[in-house]
Amino acid sequence: MGRRKLAAGNWKMNGAKAALAEIEALEAAFPAPDCDVLICPPATLVSAMAAIGSTVKVGGQDCHANASGAHTGDISAEILADAGATAVLVGHSERRADHGESDADVNAKAEAAWRAGLIAVICVGETESERTEGKALEIVGGQLAGSVPAGATGANSVIAYEPVWAIGTGLVPTLEDIAEMHDFMRAELAKSHPDAAEDFRLLYGGSVKPSNAAEIFAVSNVDGGLVGGASLKAADFGGIIKAASEG
Ligand code: PGA
Repeated sequence: MGRRKLAAGNWKMNGAKAALAEIEALEAAFPAPDCDVLICPPATLVSAMAAIGSTVKVGGQDCHANASGAHTGDISAEILADAGATAVLVGHSERRADHGESDADVNAKAEAAWRAGLIAVICVGETESERTEGKALEIVGGQLAGSVPAGATGANSVIAYEPVWAIGTGLVPTLEDIAEMHDFMRAELAKSHPDAAEDFRLLYGGSVKPSNAAEIFAVSNVDGGLVGGASLKAADFGGIIKAASEG
């Protein structure tokens, strides 16, 4: 069986209650798309968003490794699951940069996600200088080795490749560079996770738009996208869902 494509949106620190109208619009436009759809809103909206419909699954943007306790301002995978989330991003580059999260932290968060029954969307990606220095594959290979726990399967984990320099910049790697990286990631996972490697969905993220989604989703070993800015409006994200459905 082929891998079902996933159109995932990351709202980051955007989205007050009024933004739930965008989800209502997506539910009306896509009652049964031929792809999976996930939106990761601010934690305050998880519960209300999860109650809206059946097409859009809801995820957190981060979780703590522990289930509960004295960690002011953090949220656990269990609390996200209780609010209706089915997935959680771990290791987004903004978490790695803003909060100093290491591969070991991300690894522990992925295991926390599974403990709560959530899918871990494990994010990796090189910086601009790492790419310029020709180190992109080495960096991403190291992040995969450190961030993806041994127990990862295609059912409990999704891997998102997001070059840091492409996030929110309008810059996108060439399709050849995306193919090279995604083929490399599949090959690395085949070594570390031989039984699961073919099942993992590998998302591309970084300046995905309705206008470039179809060509990116057609690239070898690209199984969908993780989308920031273009996930905020139903009109834009709808174009990305269409591209994932048709791809
Ligand atoms: P972008 O963000 O689509 O706005 O570039 C992607 C992401 O950070 O997940």
